[in-house]
Amino acid sequence: MAVVKGQYNLFNDLPPPADKPLKFKPADRPIWTENKAKLIERYLFYFVMVTKHGAYIDGFAGPQYCDREDAWAAKLVLESKPSYLRKFWLCEIDPKSIERLQTLVSGQPKISGRRVEIIDGDFNSNIAGLLASSDIGDRVATFCLLDQRTFECDWQTLVTLSQHRRDYKIELFYFLATGWIERSMSGLKDREILRKWWGRDDFEKLPGMGSFDRRQLFIQRMKDELGYKHVYPFPIYSKERGGRVLYHMIHASDHDEAPRLMNRAYRNALSERENLKRLQKDLKELWGDTGRGEKPIRT
Ligand SMILES: C[S@@+](CC[C@H](N)C(=O)[O-])C[C@H]1O[C@@H](n2cnc3c(N)ncnc32)[C@H](O)[C@@H]1O
Repeated sequence: MAVVKGQYNLFNDLPPPADKPLKFKPADRPIWTENKAKLIERYLFYFVMVTKHGAYIDGFAGPQYCDREDAWAAKLVLESKPSYLRKFWLCEIDPKSIERLQTLVSGQPKISGRRVEIIDGDFNSNIAGLLASSDIGDRVATFCLLDQRTFECDWQTLVTLSQHRRDYKIELFYFLATGWIERSMSGLKDREILRKWWGRDDFEKLPGMGSFDRRQLFIQRMKDELGYKHVYPFPIYSKERGGRVLYHMIHASDHDEAPRLMNRAYRNALSERENLKRLQKDLKELWGDTGRGEKPIRT
């Protein structure tokens, strides 16, 4: 398909073979850390435009900022329109953050067919039970946000998530604390935390590695050990700290087009939403008729 001036050009190529990585240009406007939630919301908007349904698991769902609800991923995703996501699991360990989640959920309008559960406690301990008792089967498109602070998400949790669905694995959006991980690793007295986070006994090699190599190793493990077909890092920047990369959000998916969709979200997260007819046309060209709702969707 030829690229016509003014058209979105992210959908014009066939998906690359899994061993030939896509190269994304840096975004024109950096995603500052307080805009991460907008990125997540925008990606899930594209996601539901394709799937027309879906489940959302937020492993570390409490608000990062006490006074910035507009930067809270769980809130933005819950309130995003069209409200095609049907099942939500919002997991949190801190009692005050649980209260915030309860207030958030109880303030939402009732949406027919939607169920939102708040799961109190350690996500790592709860994930297996959550999945076993969920109705996430092989046909339920599922996105899991793992927005930890540094080392809270155990590797085993990623294994559990990746093994739940047989065909297209649960998509992951994983926080990697690039900007302070070296310091945090060196200062950590309880090495067991590091071992669980890394999920292997060779974690002591990590503090000496360069940041890029460590990130690449993590990405490679998500491919080799968890079996994800596509894994891409998206840098998130700090406005306060001279625009440097604060951390990466790592997107793991088995869908050939998911990396492009995430890149589209990354580039557009701070702009007005695209014209829906245009977007639906792009998606239709990409996926064909995605089932229900070929009429323009009202938001
Ligand atoms: C970085 S914040 C999440 C930010 C949030 N995604 C947002 O958009 O504002 C991490 C959250 O994880 C919670 N947390 C830490 N360890 C946890 C665990 N083991 N299980 C569940 N939640 C945990 C913290 O209390 C905190 O609310």
